[in-house]
Amino acid sequence: MAVIPVDVAGRPYEVRIGTGLLANLVSECRGRLRKARVPVMTDTNVYAAWGAAIDHALHQGGHEAAWRILPAGEASKSWDQLAATTDWLLAQEVERGDHVLALGGGVIGDLTGFAAAILKRGCQFIQLPTTLLAQVDSSVGGKTAINTPAGKNLVGAFHQPALVLADLAALDTLPPRELRAGYAEVVKYGLLGDGTFFAWCDANGAALLAGDAGAREYAIAHSVAAKARIVAADERETTGLRALLNLGHTFGHALEAQTGFSDRLLHGEGVALGMVLAARFSAARGLMPRASAEHVARHFAEVGMASEVAALGLNCDGAELVAHMRHDKKMDAGVLPFVLMHGIGHAFLATDVALDEVAAFLDGELAR
Ligand code: NAD
Ligand code: GLY
Repeated sequence: MAVIPVDVAGRPYEVRIGTGLLANLVSECRGRLRKARVPVMTDTNVYAAWGAAIDHALHQGGHEAAWRILPAGEASKSWDQLAATTDWLLAQEVERGDHVLALGGGVIGDLTGFAAAILKRGCQFIQLPTTLLAQVDSSVGGKTAINTPAGKNLVGAFHQPALVLADLAALDTLPPRELRAGYAEVVKYGLLGDGTFFAWCDANGAALLAGDAGAREYAIAHSVAAKARIVAADERETTGLRALLNLGHTFGHALEAQTGFSDRLLHGEGVALGMVLAARFSAARGLMPRASAEHVARHFAEVGMASEVAALGLNCDGAELVAHMRHDKKMDAGVLPFVLMHGIGHAFLATDVALDEVAAFLDGELAR
């Protein structure tokens, strides 16, 4: 098992990564489950795959689960589900020192974390991430949010979990497409700050996706350690360091918006394409060698992920994609910061990018 400390000021916690953590839930949570009934938030798919195992683990340790099972999917990150969840937690008589368990992907983690942030002005929660994306990104760092009609993740809070247990076994029941989408966030850590890790992904990414447990543990631990360093240094995204974690996200978000945030393009798939676009845009500005940008595209193609925006058949132009970016929550006094690259492993925040320039670049990519 790998144990990664996240040293946020005042609320340090551990991310534990290994096989069998969910089966040993009670001992892993030692001292944190204060009552016989333990509130567990999840979604229908995760409950079908892991509900019985969690019931068994809690029962063995002298507890029982109080389940709240939401419909699977992004739509559950809503005001309605937030209100119903907080009402439910109040009905469960959850106190500020109690720990709510969030068993699922980023949707369950984000919603549960936000509910925990506002319940009685803040109760404890434990992340039990069951997707690769949640294990390497969303369960760590304390960003919580819901979506509103105005856009994704526009209402939320910073609220750190008390503990994160990333069980590699959970990935065995994850649909392969979801696994690949989460893999994009693994590659992100290499591209933004660690060329050696990107080279490791080149050599081992296919094995990781095929189920190699050693490769999975290494990649998740390495990714979490990278995120933990960034979050410890810039928890509230005030210095620009944490903003580097948005590599590929501004382009990717526009693609997700253009496809209606539907199954046509999963978040991680949009991020992979977005990182290819960020690399090519950096190359077009003369910041990064073209060969390095094409290396990024080739890597995703080689592991079976879409790497060309033109292949999505979007039927729109660059200006339409850029229109989605104008509503980005990172927009600051009319300037949208972009994470660009000086090379693989060397991301930086650019604040001199005109959206017209981006639209023209995207026209070229859509016509490739
Ligand atoms: P998700 O939570 O919707 O999970 C993806 C799908 O996999 C769902 O259908 C789910 O039911 C299913 N699933 C999850 N675990 C499973 C398992 N072990 N076996 C079988 N099925 C399983 O999506 P996600 O990709 O994990 O997360 C996306 C969300 O995360 C978005 O809302 C995004 O905004 C958010 N996010 C948040 C942060 C953050 O820092 N808070 C970072 C990145 C993404
Ligand atoms: N996923 C981006 C962040 O945590 O900052």
